[in-house]
Amino acid sequence: MVVGSGGREHALVRALAASPAKPRILCAPGNAGIAADVPCVAVAADDVTGLVALAQREQIAFVVVGPEVPLALGLVDRLQAVGIPAYGPKADGARLEASKIFTKQILLKHRIPTAPAAFFSAVGPALDYLKTRPLPIVVKADGLAAGKGVVVAQTAAEAEAAVREMLEGGKFGVSGRQLLIEDCLFGEETSILVVVSGADYVILPTSQDHKRIGDGDTGPNTGGMGTYSPAEVVTPALLERIDREIVGPSVRAIAAEGMDYRGTLFVGIMLTPDGPSVIEYNARFGDPETQVVLPRVANDMLALLWAAARGELAGVRLQTRPGHAICVVIAAQGYPDAFPKGDPILLPAELPAGVSILHAGTARNAAGELVMNGGRVLGVTVLAESLRAAADRAYAVCERIGCRSKYYRRDIGARQLRRENA
Ligand code: AMP
Ligand code: GLY
Repeated sequence: MVVGSGGREHALVRALAASPAKPRILCAPGNAGIAADVPCVAVAADDVTGLVALAQREQIAFVVVGPEVPLALGLVDRLQAVGIPAYGPKADGARLEASKIFTKQILLKHRIPTAPAAFFSAVGPALDYLKTRPLPIVVKADGLAAGKGVVVAQTAAEAEAAVREMLEGGKFGVSGRQLLIEDCLFGEETSILVVVSGADYVILPTSQDHKRIGDGDTGPNTGGMGTYSPAEVVTPALLERIDREIVGPSVRAIAAEGMDYRGTLFVGIMLTPDGPSVIEYNARFGDPETQVVLPRVANDMLALLWAAARGELAGVRLQTRPGHAICVVIAAQGYPDAFPKGDPILLPAELPAGVSILHAGTARNAAGELVMNGGRVLGVTVLAESLRAAADRAYAVCERIGCRSKYYRRDIGARQLRRENA
């Protein structure tokens, strides 16, 4: 059973379905696209009690958890208590994503490269601290905020407004009752997804996300507007350094802090001029990173995740597929703020080879039409011989998707393409 309803879960369902073990797969709650592949049951991803009951009723042998919220609510602990193995950390491990302060304390304690930061729950001391730091400066809500609880403030006024909104204005609710103020890191970002099982781990292919809503990395942060893999800026030598300075130490630190972590550790890294530095941990697969990473993995994903969940990952090696993958997210006009729902979507009847349309915020209306049902709606995903070919094929399909309020960035992969041209 796969838990979740996004493009990440659609990619997971497809990768797991491709296993030679030919698993029977169920998804909860899924979306309109996932429902075209496997049966979906309308139990929400944050309904932990409902999910445990569903897994028991359906005699599920293995659960793969997509999103962070059920992990933080202890879904994996609850499944374990009734004897159902699951891939994903327990609530203690999920805190690595659910509390940025908790994570920063671990990073600092274990001397893993990360930006200096301080923690606040009152406006006065936070504003005093701001006066001592250079601009730009980063203000982060401590708790979960769907990727939107971070403000990279260019001016002192912006930083002060962010502090006040979180601590006084109740923006992000409980998640913003405490915050971090962190020095700004400069460079390119990369997403390193690691399948972890206690002391053992497998680093999946590299990728790069595009977090801002607008072309040229402008406008507010989103959950992610598009990805590509591999991120060639992470050379083999740099990946080796990331493993040595960040991934290995992180896995050891997590174990040393008493967590028996079995799930994805997603390390968000800034490639600064001084070396790679941790921006954040996520306790799950990335979305839309998963959509480009999984097509490049040749291992049987079901066997890989099962081995991690069972503590049998030692000796497992990554096998990659050649080629370049891209995912262009089709969002609803207005995302990440308010956006319309219910607009009909018309998908092309035929897709060129290597192209798949993964669904995120889609549903069927009463008339059975495919309609928009979320901020991020679709991910046009392509695996091709080059990033250029992948991008051209993806954008040709994006244009052909009929939807009145569709919005997508036109520059996914542009950085790497510019480098290739140079
Ligand atoms: P997070 O939720 O911590 O991943 O932050 C979301 C995004 O904000 C990151 O992907 C970065 O683009 C940006 N960001 C977070 N922390 C920093 C930082 N210290 N310096 C520069 N950008 C940051
Ligand atoms: N795409 C970034 C994330 O999944 O957090």
